[in-house]
Amino acid sequence: MSFQASLFDSQSTAGDQVVARFAPNFAGWQNAARRLLAAGIAPARVWWQPTPDHEQADADAPASGARVPKAFVAQARTVSCHRDDDRWALLYRLLWRLTHGERHVLQLSGDADTARFNRYAKAVRRDVHKMKAFVRFREVTDTDDGVPRYLAWFEPEHFIVEYVSGFFQRRFANMRWSILTPVGCVHWEGHGQLWFSPATDKSAAPEGDALEQAWQIYYRSIFNPARVKVRAMQSEMPQKYWKNMPEAHLIPALLRDADRRVQAMEANRKHSDELRCGPRPASPEADNAAAVAASAPASLERLALQATTCRNCPLWQPATQTVFGQGPADARVMLVGEQPGDREDLAGLPFVGPAGQLLDRALAAAGVARERLYLTNTVKHFKFSPRGKTRLHATPSETEVMACRPWLDAEIGLVAPELVIGLGATAGRALLGTDVRINRDRGRIITHDDRRYLLTVHPSYLLRRGTAAANASEYQRFVQDLAQAVDWV
Ligand code: URA
Repeated sequence: MSFQASLFDSQSTAGDQVVARFAPNFAGWQNAARRLLAAGIAPARVWWQPTPDHEQADADAPASGARVPKAFVAQARTVSCHRDDDRWALLYRLLWRLTHGERHVLQLSGDADTARFNRYAKAVRRDVHKMKAFVRFREVTDTDDGVPRYLAWFEPEHFIVEYVSGFFQRRFANMRWSILTPVGCVHWEGHGQLWFSPATDKSAAPEGDALEQAWQIYYRSIFNPARVKVRAMQSEMPQKYWKNMPEAHLIPALLRDADRRVQAMEANRKHSDELRCGPRPASPEADNAAAVAASAPASLERLALQATTCRNCPLWQPATQTVFGQGPADARVMLVGEQPGDREDLAGLPFVGPAGQLLDRALAAAGVARERLYLTNTVKHFKFSPRGKTRLHATPSETEVMACRPWLDAEIGLVAPELVIGLGATAGRALLGTDVRINRDRGRIITHDDRRYLLTVHPSYLLRRGTAAANASEYQRFVQDLAQAVDWV
């Protein structure tokens, strides 16, 4: 076959064996596999030879015409990140079987190939989960333009750096960062494209910075001594990851102190009972898990269900419930507040209290239909300090904003609004970074990372100013700011 000479060395060192050289990544394997399949070359004849400098010029490999289940392709991509050298041959064997009369082979969990395919995918997914959870950035330099760069060192078990890099790009879109690993590195400049460089060793990674301190404070604050399960903790966060996690060295001392803190918590319980949230919605965690499983993957519904049991920061404890975003999943405009207030906390819905009512009036005056917006908050639990029986609003801290960030990111990702309106400084900073000044930046469309933002004051700010005449002009400004969204709704 004419292409064989260029793509496969059919050197006859071993009978009619074919050596398939390919760039060692999923696309490289896929192209080689397509050609082998189209040429009718059975798995037993193929020697898979990953060749790092192999050109990916074979990207235009002809489709073999064979149809394979989508689930195979998705999982094959995951399996291609596994460490084991035999993964390429395994993938081709399964591909061959799927296209040669064994279309249901992936349903046979007892089949040796299928079992290994599932085992490899599970190992990779676990590694991906660990990397998402345990990468810790440290600030290293001020680059020429004064923008800091963050570096992380991580030791994955599998070749997952490229696979998982999109997650970090989305999560840390506004930062410049590099993740260094012994299997390859990924870099992001805060815009443009991710780029990759070869493996490095730990000496390239720095130790210690201000961020590290923030992590320690954050970790101390979320550590709940009453819920310590050492075994479960070690299985979720194996000790091998500890050395690269700034908070890890706190763990032994926190564990030693756990009993004393539980006793102190008991003693304080009466006080916290008096903080009194509303009647908690009856949703035992097991029911919630079943509801999550029954909901559509990658849907707002699933996200909202998952958020009901969020324990990322301690705010869930005194609050009644998580107040998740609300509105059409395809809204073109998303409006982000600070956090639910007292009424929202009791109702479980955003913007239904006094600030929400003022917002409703202003939106109507601006000609923007509320029901066409997706409304949400930067922080999903009500933070308050008790004053007698009253719960007074308290501003969420940076760490609480950071802990809640994944929910907001996921909402933005799923709704994909064309315009995001931030109400007040907490939302503005969470959306656009710490340099935001509402007075300076309000009322104009700001394009940032291919998304449009509009900042304005928070309606509570107008409520605090009362009804004096001077406030009328502030209210008008607020209406004018919101009116900019008209084009999108
Ligand atoms: N303030 C907010 O920021 N969000 C609400 O949901 C209510 C008040």
